[in-house]
This record gives sequence, C-alpha cells and structure tokens, in this order.
Amino acid sequence: MRRLLIGCAKPSFTGLFLFTMPSDSSIPTSTTHAADFGPAAWFYDTLAGLIFGGALRRSQRATLAAGLPPNPALRVLVLGGGAGWVLSELWRLRPQAQVLYVEVSEAMLARTRARLRRHPMPAGAALELRQGSEASVRPDERFDVIITFFVLDCFTQAALPGALARLHAARHPGAPWLVTDFWPARRGWRRWLLRAMYWFFGFTVGLRAWQMPPWPAELAALGLRSRWEQHFFGRAIAGIILNEAPAEANEIS
Ligand SMILES: C[S@@+](CC[C@H](N)C(=O)[O-])C[C@H]1O[C@@H](n2cnc3c(N)ncnc32)[C@H](O)[C@@H]1O
Repeated sequence: MRRLLIGCAKPSFTGLFLFTMPSDSSIPTSTTHAADFGPAAWFYDTLAGLIFGGALRRSQRATLAAGLPPNPALRVLVLGGGAGWVLSELWRLRPQAQVLYVEVSEAMLARTRARLRRHPMPAGAALELRQGSEASVRPDERFDVIITFFVLDCFTQAALPGALARLHAARHPGAPWLVTDFWPARRGWRRWLLRAMYWFFGFTVGLRAWQMPPWPAELAALGLRSRWEQHFFGRAIAGIILNEAPAEANEIS
C-alpha cells in the first residue's frame, strides 16, 4: 500500500491526514467491481440537490445526529462518502472524530481534499483518505461506528452480502451502523424513480447494479435490527441506525 502523508502533527492517528492508495498488485478484486462515480464527481452533489431538494443531506444529518456514539474521539469508518460533505457534518457533531474515509473514486477523493482546504478539519480530528472499497479495510481495523450513506445502492445483489459481511466484521461489538439510502420499492412512483436513477448512473458512470439490492434484508440477515428509523422524500429514502438485536428491537421495516 502506497501512502502519501499530507500533513502530520504527531506520530499518532490523532492529527494525521493521510492519503493511502493500494499499489496495483494489492488492489483487492472486489475494488474492480466497486462503482466508481468519478465521471459524475463534478456534478453529483449539484444534481442530487436539484432533484431531491436537500432530502439526501437532511437524511444524513438526522441519522448522524441520532446515531453517533457519545465518545468524543470515536473511530469512524465512512464508506463511499463522495465529495466529502459528510466530513464537515461529522466533525460538527464530534470534532475529535478519527475517520477512515474509504472511497473508490479518485475524482471524489480529489474533491474531498479540495473541500478540506476550504473547510479544514478541527484541531483534534484525524483523517485517512483511502482509495479503495470495503475490501481495503484491513482485517485488524475496528470502528466505533460505520457510516454507509447512499452507497449500498451501488452494489449488485450478488456483491452485497460479501461487502456487508466485511463491514460488519470491522465493527466493535455493539457499534452502530448508520445507513441512509433509497428504499427498495417494488411498485409506484418510487420504483420508477429507482429505475430512472439506475438507468442514468448506468449510462454516466457504468454502474453495474441495475436495481436496488435488498439491503434491509441483508442487514437483518447479519443479526442487525433497526433501533432508530426516519423516512424522507415521501418515504423513498430511509435513515436507519442498526446494531445487534435486543429482544424488543424492531425489524427493519
Ligand atoms: C451515490 S454516491 C453517494 C456519495 C455520498 N455518500 C453522498 O451521499 O453524497 C456513492 C459513492 O460511493 C462510491 N462507491 C461506490 N461503491 C463503493 C465501494 N464499494 N467502496 C467505496 N466507495 C464506493 C462512489 O464512487 C460514490 O462516490
């Protein structure tokens, strides 16, 4: 793994800003199946804002506010964070959060770095930007919270269980998993909305998934249950906080 140290205050994770990139020989196979939104990086945020009128960000904000554990210097894994807006929100709530930001798209990472120059991270925070997929999370890495915002919808049905298992293994016991995503709709306008989105991103970024994978069922199959849930944009979008099921926990609905 090639590492480019962008800034370093102390020889610890705290205060570090690292950019790491797997060397060619170490790129895990599943990275090649990940959905690189590079071609859409320059317009993704604007388009999402125009179409969903802020609902995507509202859902992420609400889920972060409800789901981040209280410990200040928590270790956070963000998968598929895109152009980096979520980092500002995260640090607004937990200014000392230690973040591993795994994003397959170099163009999205470039935008994240540019954003960080405009909105620098707080003094006690730490960040590693890692180009790769969930497969680049090392087996010994553990996190206090896992964040997958609008990325589970990028997986094919076949690839999703393996990816979720990998992320699940990276959680400290009981660590919350924060999800915001489109609900897998089977009928009505929500289904047509999904169809249009898959068609559009199939065309623009070569997204291999062509329908919403059953992410709620796959998360439930890992023994995770929803302990908080909110819906947005006419229930087309869900924000969910999951962890291991206590007896009275809700099925993901
Ligand atoms: C639909 S965009 C959402 C971006 C961001 N979460 C947001 O809500 O604005 C999905 C992002 O996940 C990245 N991505 C897709 N599959 C990935 C994977 N398996 N591992 C890491 N990143 C992935 C894409 O490059 C893209 O930036």
